[in-house]
Amino acid sequence: MSNRISLVTGAARGLGAVVARTFHEAGYKVALADIALEPAHALARELSADGSSACAIRLDVTRKEDFEAARDTVLERWGALDALINNAGASKVVSVMDITAEQFDQVINVNLRSVLFGCQVFGQYFAQRGMGRIVNIASLAGQNGGSATGAHYAAAKGGVLTLTKVFARDLAARGVTVNAISPGPLDLPIVHESVPADKLEKVIEGIPVGRLGAASYIADVAVMLASGDAYFANGACWDVNGGLYMR
Ligand SMILES: NC(=O)c1ccc[n+]([C@@H]2O[C@H](COP(=O)([O-])OP(=O)(O)OC[C@H]3O[C@@H](n4cnc5c(N)ncnc54)[C@H](O)[C@@H]3O)[C@@H](O)[C@H]2O)c1
Repeated sequence: MSNRISLVTGAARGLGAVVARTFHEAGYKVALADIALEPAHALARELSADGSSACAIRLDVTRKEDFEAARDTVLERWGALDALINNAGASKVVSVMDITAEQFDQVINVNLRSVLFGCQVFGQYFAQRGMGRIVNIASLAGQNGGSATGAHYAAAKGGVLTLTKVFARDLAARGVTVNAISPGPLDLPIVHESVPADKLEKVIEGIPVGRLGAASYIADVAVMLASGDAYFANGACWDVNGGLYMR
């Protein structure tokens, strides 16, 4: 594993930080890409004080040129790239009837246009190379319409699942797989920050396994899907939701 290289978007905090750490522990060199450069730098330095196996890159996932620049930076630094984890995402809860055009576009851009650009830029590079892995972080909201996250976010995440299939089909013959992971509510800062404690208790009561999900397990699934052996897993959505949604 020691020569493998991954780039994780939204790696400065939350799930992305756990994913970046887990790939690093699995022996990958990791590029931590985020708009929040300082915390991404801090984590990269913690993982690799001399920068030999972790680095931070400023990347706004709504901008295709940022993905292209990040690809070039990683290639200059480490010479190759094996896996992209499209993790960055954001939402603000607004009732469906009140979502404005600006709010809709912003949430679609961060959660869905990001995946389009990531898959375009890195998918093309991986296809030219004849190998590569893309893992898109979707959400249970994209499958069941969501509850506390907003209709624009749920719609965007549904779109992530569809883009995953389209790119998976398009790139498969050239050694590139594309999969999605669809987590239910995770035990992460954003969940505790955005859901009041009494409401969170009710959310947890409603989860069949009776607990929030562990980000570390989502990260383990991403590492598994990024491995060379995972070539037969393609265009899939990996549900990790405590039994909240079964199909
Ligand atoms: N937390 C959960 O329970 C949960 C459940 C299902 C899916 N998810 C998904 O997991 C992913 C990570 O969520 P999280 O809980 O860690 O969120 P978070 O808000 O804690 O972290 C998101 C990270 O993305 C970065 N980011 C935001 N906009 C960006 C942009 N334009 N360009 C680059 N980076 C940007 C932020 O700076 C931050 O570091 C998201 O895609 C989210 O939809 C989370």
